[in-house]
Amino acid sequence: MAMELTVGDPALTARLERGMDASEERLRALAAEAQDPCVAEVAGHLFGPGGKRLRPLLALVGAEFGERAPSSAGPPAVDPSPAVGAAGPSPAVEAAALAELVHVASLYHDDVMDQARTRRGVPSVNARWGNTTAVLAGNWLLSKAAQLAAELGPETIRLQSKVTNRLIMGQIRELVGPSDDDDPLSHYFTVVAGKSAALIAMALQLGAVRTSAPEHVVQSLAEYGEHLGIAFQISDDILDITSTSEVSGKEQGKDLAIGVASLPVLLALADERPEAGELRTLLTAATAGPEGAGLPTAVALLHRCGALAEARTVMHARLLRARTAANGLPDGPATRVLHALCDFVARRDH
Ligand code: IPE
Ligand code: MG
Ligand code: MG
Repeated sequence: MAMELTVGDPALTARLERGMDASEERLRALAAEAQDPCVAEVAGHLFGPGGKRLRPLLALVGAEFGERAPSSAGPPAVDPSPAVGAAGPSPAVEAAALAELVHVASLYHDDVMDQARTRRGVPSVNARWGNTTAVLAGNWLLSKAAQLAAELGPETIRLQSKVTNRLIMGQIRELVGPSDDDDPLSHYFTVVAGKSAALIAMALQLGAVRTSAPEHVVQSLAEYGEHLGIAFQISDDILDITSTSEVSGKEQGKDLAIGVASLPVLLALADERPEAGELRTLLTAATAGPEGAGLPTAVALLHRCGALAEARTVMHARLLRARTAANGLPDGPATRVLHALCDFVARRDH
């Protein structure tokens, strides 16, 4: 993904690429620390190729804002800013690895919740080893994240524990659904703030904190991340409906098939538009899944009633808020990456 972000700074692009490689190496080393080869294999299942690696990238970008940023690390040598020096992985790389550990753990649990068969273009952990193993391996990854955070210090533990709590609460709230008194749309935004935006914001914060960025910069990054994260989840909701599994590496229509309240569906059902009744029938009949004949009808309906277009409008409004937060950051290539990521999410929606 780093390569796709052309911000006119080859040195930054090269640094991000080195950081991404080093964080993947770090993740593989952490999985290998499991004393049991089976645990190591299951824990490392999604650390290979595939996936967008958004969170580690954000941690590396966040680290560009600190006083101890990789860009200001020492005099230029053969390698101007090694991602892994003699003292081990850099603070930026540790932040990237930690963010991805928490993310991958949440994917293991999410795929159990969603009964997903495919993730990052390969069989999901639950599809390959079963639900129990997937839950336990997800827990193992979270325990590893906690261990790594403890090695990195109290501020990192504070961020890691808070984000884990918000993420799991988001997943629980999604599972439980809104109460009768809740507005379904407000409930949706609470869910996605927890399950998606919290970690996206935390990855940026962690990179910045670990390289001693000023407090107001950390705050702006967190604000940017919260908005980007919500926009990113909305694009994910849209892609669930519009994208093929060859492109996304996941099954098309999974949210529709299992009744996850994604934004386009909530918007379609929010007011009594003519298509709402038909959509409700399709969804409750649970025939909209990839194997079900109802999926193309449900997709056509979501297009026709304007709900997909409305979801895109909501996403663009969030991206605007993310850009406004990024405008509060020092001007420079790292801030340009943040804007380029908004472009990436905007382009991702179809
Ligand atoms: C994503 O939830 C947030 C997580 C906690 C993993 P989704 O259910 O929308 O994500 P995908 O579509 O399976 O990746
Ligand atoms: Mg899912
Ligand atoms: Mg889910």
